[in-house]
Amino acid sequence: MSVTPIGGRPGFPGRDEIRQKITTAILREFKHRHEPITCLTAYDYATSRLVDEAGIEMILVGDSLAQTVLGYENTLSVTMDEMLHHVKAVRRGVKQALLLADMPYGSYHVDAESALSNATRFVKEGGAEVVKIEGGEKRADLIRRIIDAEIPVAGHIGLTPQSVNVMGGYKVQGKNLSGIEQLMRDAVALDRAGVACLVLEGIPREVAAMITAEVETPTIGIGAGPDCDGQVLVFHDILNLTFAPPAKFVRRYGDGAELISHAVQAFRADVKSLQYPSDEQSYHLPKETKVGLDTVLARKRAMRS
Ligand code: KIV
Repeated sequence: MSVTPIGGRPGFPGRDEIRQKITTAILREFKHRHEPITCLTAYDYATSRLVDEAGIEMILVGDSLAQTVLGYENTLSVTMDEMLHHVKAVRRGVKQALLLADMPYGSYHVDAESALSNATRFVKEGGAEVVKIEGGEKRADLIRRIIDAEIPVAGHIGLTPQSVNVMGGYKVQGKNLSGIEQLMRDAVALDRAGVACLVLEGIPREVAAMITAEVETPTIGIGAGPDCDGQVLVFHDILNLTFAPPAKFVRRYGDGAELISHAVQAFRADVKSLQYPSDEQSYHLPKETKVGLDTVLARKRAMRS
């Protein structure tokens, strides 16, 4: 079997090329230089490795794992242990990107002690460099506590999927004046708490632009328009692997469903029609063993007759 060399894909930066290791400090430099930051989710070794090798600066093991990989209906059911299992796999695939782990629903809602212990597990056991927490100003004190424990935190405001039952569905936030004021308060509170970056999800472009201009921390948009400091999308969304119509903000960059179905059907057809495996794809006995085996079989046949 031939093995593709690491970083050997044409058009992609090599895994070991002089790309720098992305840190939270470097994210701020990107913001100051107005260089857009890219972020994708990933949930396993193979895809996180490809995302990392393609030069994406931030890789998020999102709690979207719940729907994309585990087949849950929403993000509320995914557990710390399930998240940690995937964070560890992604850690093995990522070299240069900053690795973020999403704190799942329930892992930071009970009390600050358990939140701190769960965040610590992501760093110690999973190798995450940043943990992400949904919610605005009401999370500022907790976020400060976690940062005090030397764990960088990413904020996440606007349409926060873990609040689906409170929001009454996945609804764009900040569409009226009081909603905008709340989002500004949330953004400023988290910025002052010292978040490493701030995910803005499902908010009007105009509001995301105001927040981005107001806060020191880099803003990473998803469904928040082009004026954020960076953009994040879900890996399965950009590759048509979600079995559902995409949200308005999603852009598809490939058809993974088509590619996989095609390959799987071709494999099935080849096996059914005895086209796979071929003789070249089979192992053969060494010549001497084959001669010896033929002799033994011939002797057996002679004894039987
Ligand atoms: O879980 C997730 O995938 C996310 C983002 C898309 C921001 O939180």
